[in-house]
Amino acid sequence: MTQPLHLRDRLRFLACPARFSLRVVLLYCYIFLGILALLIYVMHFKHLGPSFLLGLVASQGVAALPQSTPTPTPQASSDAWKTYTISADNITAKLIPYGARLTSLLVPDREGRLQDVVVGFDDPTQYRGDDNYYGPVVGRYANRIKNGTFSIAGTQYDIPKNENDGLDTLHGGDVGYDQRNWTVIAHTDTSITFSFYDHALEGFPGDVLTHATYTVANGPDGRPQLTTNLVSLALTEATPIMLANHIYWNLNAFRDQNVLQDVTLQLPLSKRFIATDGILIPNGTISTVDAYNGAPDFTSPKLVGADINDAVGLCGTDCTGYDNCWIIDRPTGYSPDSLVPALYMHSQNTGISLEISTNTPAIQIYSCNGQDGSDPVKQSQIDRNRAEGYTNGPTTVLKNACVVVETEGWIDGINQPSWGQLDNQIFTPGGEPAINHAVYRFGTI
Ligand SMILES: *[C@@H]1O[C@H](CO)[C@@H](O)[C@H](O)[C@H]1NC(C)=O
Ligand SMILES: *[C@@H]1O[C@H](CO)[C@@H](O)[C@H](O)[C@H]1NC(C)=O
Ligand SMILES: *[C@@H]1O[C@H](CO)[C@@H](O)[C@H](O)[C@H]1NC(C)=O
Ligand SMILES: *[C@@H]1O[C@H](CO)[C@@H](O)[C@H](O)[C@H]1NC(C)=O
Repeated sequence: MTQPLHLRDRLRFLACPARFSLRVVLLYCYIFLGILALLIYVMHFKHLGPSFLLGLVASQGVAALPQSTPTPTPQASSDAWKTYTISADNITAKLIPYGARLTSLLVPDREGRLQDVVVGFDDPTQYRGDDNYYGPVVGRYANRIKNGTFSIAGTQYDIPKNENDGLDTLHGGDVGYDQRNWTVIAHTDTSITFSFYDHALEGFPGDVLTHATYTVANGPDGRPQLTTNLVSLALTEATPIMLANHIYWNLNAFRDQNVLQDVTLQLPLSKRFIATDGILIPNGTISTVDAYNGAPDFTSPKLVGADINDAVGLCGTDCTGYDNCWIIDRPTGYSPDSLVPALYMHSQNTGISLEISTNTPAIQIYSCNGQDGSDPVKQSQIDRNRAEGYTNGPTTVLKNACVVVETEGWIDGINQPSWGQLDNQIFTPGGEPAINHAVYRFGTI
């Protein structure tokens, strides 16, 4: 029986062969051809730039490669509506590539029965043309941009004005990240990563590469948690980047008509919010939460509906309710981008609680003032409620039936240099990545 050669001996033999058998000559030949092929490849396809190297050509509409070129991996998700599931004990999330979107999240109520706590649709194709932003990642710049313009180093950029009949930009322009078909680049039982290569889309300067990862797990105490990580790089020019998850929460699982007298909200670190005009564009003033008779004061736990009648005009002209950006003031000793618990919420009806920790400097809350029953409640959740004896729940998403939470930067900070937010809103090639990190921990009361 011959002893197998040790790797070290094999390498020594290759570098300095004792005899030149045909096999050895062939091997040298292959190595030579391999190096040659690599050189031709690098020289020939250099012009395709980083997108080619990242294997995103097929998904993003760069000129098609010759047939003989090996297919880049990973491939673009062939089906934007395909549902991917991730789960851990007592938590199951469903997501689709269209908008890197969270479409369902099941967590236990106080009886231990699973409830879907995010608003959206059962049938993923219903998200086509969704203008409510149910569950996606929004970007390249979340929230509103005054007049759809901003300047960097003396150059003005015009972004499509897709809100208020052409007065401002909302969530990144006509076709924001919510309507893009992201590429699934990794998927395990507990985690999924979507990728999107933005080739200077919607008039923004330069290319941006983003990875959006959702992970479910059981925290140190076994409690179910969802983690979101949005990591973006400016690749070619200085550009604003402000991504956000845009999730509609309904912790009462549609057992009630709305959340007003059922869901308690607390924003423990937010004594300030950004004042806005009639179309929700910041007017430059930073307000304190004692404005509007204290309606925006959630520093202590309070029902969403407790003071909402005092929030007249707070969500814009002819609107009563919340659609505002609260500033997260970290306690002394915390760095500006440290992960801190910034929001607590629970439903009296289901007992489901949610705590959100974030590294962002602000948090936008929208009390679903604009929902008017035109979208259905998911049939899967209606069925769940009926099976559990709750037969009086709504079948459509009514006014104030949900709370949207966006962890993000100070809105329109790119147009308010005096706020000192440019450092965490404008990103440059070779500089730090833009990171939006959040942990959503569930429990029951
Ligand atoms: C899952 O939830 C059930 C019911 O609430 C609970 O009894 C169980 O301990 C939970 N599992 C873990 C791993 O926490
Ligand atoms: C508003 O946007 C237009 C382009 O749509 C631009 O020409 C104009 O300069 C902008 N106004 C201000 C005050 O920035
Ligand atoms: C995303 O995919 C859907 C379904 O294939 C397609 O209809 C849509 O045009 C795509 N969107 C973009 C922005 O490419
Ligand atoms: C901005 O709006 C707030 C709230 O309406 C108001 O108190 C403040 O004076 C306004 N600031 C400016 C600069 O117009």
